[in-house]
Amino acid sequence: MLSSLAFSVPFLLAGLQAATVNAVPTISAVGSKFFYENGTQFYIKGIAYQLTPSDPLVDTAQCKRDIARMSELGANSIRVYHVDPSANHKGCMTALADAGIYLWVDLDTFTTQIEQTSPQWNQTQFDRFTEVLDEFQKYENTAGVLVGNEVLTTAEGSAAAPYVLAAARDVKAYRDQKGYREIPVGYSAADIADLRPMLQNYLGCSTNTSERLDFYSLNAYEWCGDSSYQQSGYNMLQKNATDYPIPIFFSETGCNTPKPRTFEDQSAIFGDQMVDTWSGSIIYEWIEETNNYGLISYGPSVKPATATATSIEDGFTRQGTPTPVSPDFDNLKSQWATLNPTGVALSDYKKSATGLSIECPASTSGGWDVDPSAPLPTLGQTYKKGSGSSATTSGGSGASSTGASATSSSTKEGAAFAVSASSPMTERLLAGSIVLSGMLGALALWL
Ligand SMILES: *[C@@H]1O[C@H](CO)[C@@H](O)[C@H](O)[C@H]1NC(C)=O
Ligand SMILES: *[C@@H]1O[C@H](CO)[C@@H](O)[C@H](O)[C@H]1NC(C)=O
Ligand SMILES: *[C@@H]1O[C@H](CO)[C@@H](O)[C@H](O)[C@H]1NC(C)=O
Ligand SMILES: *[C@@H]1O[C@H](CO)[C@@H](O)[C@H](O)[C@H]1NC(C)=O
Repeated sequence: MLSSLAFSVPFLLAGLQAATVNAVPTISAVGSKFFYENGTQFYIKGIAYQLTPSDPLVDTAQCKRDIARMSELGANSIRVYHVDPSANHKGCMTALADAGIYLWVDLDTFTTQIEQTSPQWNQTQFDRFTEVLDEFQKYENTAGVLVGNEVLTTAEGSAAAPYVLAAARDVKAYRDQKGYREIPVGYSAADIADLRPMLQNYLGCSTNTSERLDFYSLNAYEWCGDSSYQQSGYNMLQKNATDYPIPIFFSETGCNTPKPRTFEDQSAIFGDQMVDTWSGSIIYEWIEETNNYGLISYGPSVKPATATATSIEDGFTRQGTPTPVSPDFDNLKSQWATLNPTGVALSDYKKSATGLSIECPASTSGGWDVDPSAPLPTLGQTYKKGSGSSATTSGGSGASSTGASATSSSTKEGAAFAVSASSPMTERLLAGSIVLSGMLGALALWL
């Protein structure tokens, strides 16, 4: 009681200063950890929530039905990949805040994401990214924003990394210039064994905090079925992240081969070996779809050709009563129920937080092809393949190869990952954009 009184005064002041909509403690990044306003460390227990392809945060009634199940699961976060910044999100964001659930939202859309093969960072991208920030900074339960999801998917993609960092730099500068709260700006990486730990270190190594991410997150499906800390490769992920100066967490996890999913990796992430380094995990994903990663179903699949209801998209009903997928939903729920790390108090941690640093990775020909001392791309810059004069990337054919190459991760058993480093969500988005471009093509023909 006393302690909550002591905290309520600064809390109230902060609330008065910011013209925000809902009242929930904000999350901030300090050193390599996240904290609530009261100085308690924040660990993410999250779900990837893209119930509808364009924006799952506009249907308040549906959000409320789903949030009840999220709370039952023990989730305190969701990740959303696509939103419509012009829509009204107040109902869903308030319902989430009421349940103590925070949002991690991707700023890019199908047409504005940074591309691995011909990276650029331009005004159109900046404008779209900042529109999403403008909308979601209003909500105190926006925990973080992401400037990209799996931009790099192959070992040859390193030339795109400076463009990811340039986007983060400009989004952070915009956030500060607008006087917004210091909402952490991060990136969600594909788990590419050949780029470990260079990509991770590059994005977090600058001593100039304006030119590094506020957090780094990894989509990793290394732990499949009955595995272990060593066997899964999590021991290597831990080794690579030990002295990392900014927060790091799993932005997607939950290998689904073999079924059923038991989510035993959660006990490693929140257990002794990793809990001082990692800030939790986001499980892929909420809705059951063709890729079989769902925790919740709204009914059996429907042939798209015969589907007439507006609640059906891509062959799945996306509205109604959320029904847990059994036994996966309960398996995750029981895992999380036993995992409640307290972490470190901000007051004890603050001093050690400032001294953290890692070396920027050196450029290696044919491998990590980025000169760490080169200035970042400026807004409007496009990567030029093999141009020795390029100020941003050392030359070479870095950007020439496309996603076809099989960059196998360190996964030994992960069927999902034996063939490709990109995650189920990325596969789905690719399929979506192929369908989209097919439709545009058809339209063009018709015209
Ligand atoms: C700090 O705030 C969080 C979130 O509201 C709460 O769960 C936690 O118990 C609080 N810690 C203390 C020490 O009051
Ligand atoms: C900006 O970049 C995006 C993504 O690469 C691209 O689709 C778009 O055409 C670019 N816009 C301009 C004006 O160059
Ligand atoms: C840090 O980076 C920002 C953004 O690029 C730049 O404006 C600033 O001059 C840099 N500061 C130092 C000390 O180099
Ligand atoms: C990072 O992990 C890789 C395996 O994925 C390992 O080969 C490498 O030695 C690790 N590097 C460090 C610095 O721990």
